[in-house]
Formats: sequence, C-alpha cells, structure tokens
Amino acid sequence: MNSIAVCFVCLGNICRSPSAEAVMLHQVAQAKLADRIIVDSAGTGDWHIGHPPDDRAQRAAKRRGYDLSALRGRQIAADDFARFDLLIAMDDMNAAALAQICPPEHRDKIRLLMEFATRDDSRVVVDPYFGGDEGFERVLDQCEDACEGLVKALRAQLVV
Ligand code: 4NP
Repeated sequence: MNSIAVCFVCLGNICRSPSAEAVMLHQVAQAKLADRIIVDSAGTGDWHIGHPPDDRAQRAAKRRGYDLSALRGRQIAADDFARFDLLIAMDDMNAAALAQICPPEHRDKIRLLMEFATRDDSRVVVDPYFGGDEGFERVLDQCEDACEGLVKALRAQLVV
C-alpha cells in the first residue's frame, strides 16, 4: 500500500492554502482515504509563521463546516520538496516562487490547484487578502471543485 503526500502552497499560508487543506482533509475523509493521503499547507512568505488563519477565512470556512482554527502558518522549507509528492500552488506567483527554490529533480511536483478543477475553468485561485468577503467565498468554491478532482486523480495513483 502506498500513500501520497500533498502540500497546498500560497503566499501567506493564512487564507488560500489553509482553506484548501481543510477542504481536502474533509473530502479525503469522505472518500475513506484518510490513511492514504497526507495533507498539509505552507506559504512562500515568512510574515505569518505561527499565525492562525485570517479571521475572514476562518468565518467563511466555518459557515461551510470547515474548522481552520487549529492551523498555524508556516513557510515552505527545503525538505518539503522531497517529503511531498505534490506541491500545489494557488497562483502563478506561488508556483514561480516554489520553482526558484525547488531542486531540479522535484520540479515536476509543482502544480496549480485549478488544474484539477472540473467545473471552474479559471487558471488560478486569486489572493483574497486585500479584498472583501466575497473573495473568501470564491476561494472556497474553487477549493471544493478542485479538491474533488484532486481526490479522483490521487485515488487513481493509489496502489490497492
Ligand atoms: P494567502 O493570502 O496567500 O492566501 O494566505 C495572503 C495573506 C497575507 C498576505 C498576502 C496574501 N500578506 O501580504 O501579508
């Protein structure tokens, strides 16, 4: 039996990637794959290390039944590229920041979250930090769509 480890990556690790982490954990549990798929998140920046997710992200998530309160910001670390099978960036800037510090042999692990979406055809998950509450709803809509596709893609890679 193999397992697969995924890390969602945004800029601050207080809005988008913790939201994706919580949505993915929920969907992985629903798919009864909690023992096979390992889920984490990180930021490319260092401003919010140790901070809980943004209040607006926590409130929007809670309305949909996701609890972000125990999560804490962390910055992507050099050993994450070996530890994780996929580093899933929210936008092109996050992906570029990852690519800059990623050892060449792990570059193909860097993907964009919205590559896995099945309904929403947008390329990226836009940073909601400087906008209003609707941005946080949109982040959750995109995470719910893309994580569904991601669970399906990972299930296909799991050896029975
Ligand atoms: P995130 O959002 O990358 O989705 O966590 C941001 C959070 C904080 C900042 C920018 C984006 N910031 O500039 O502090």
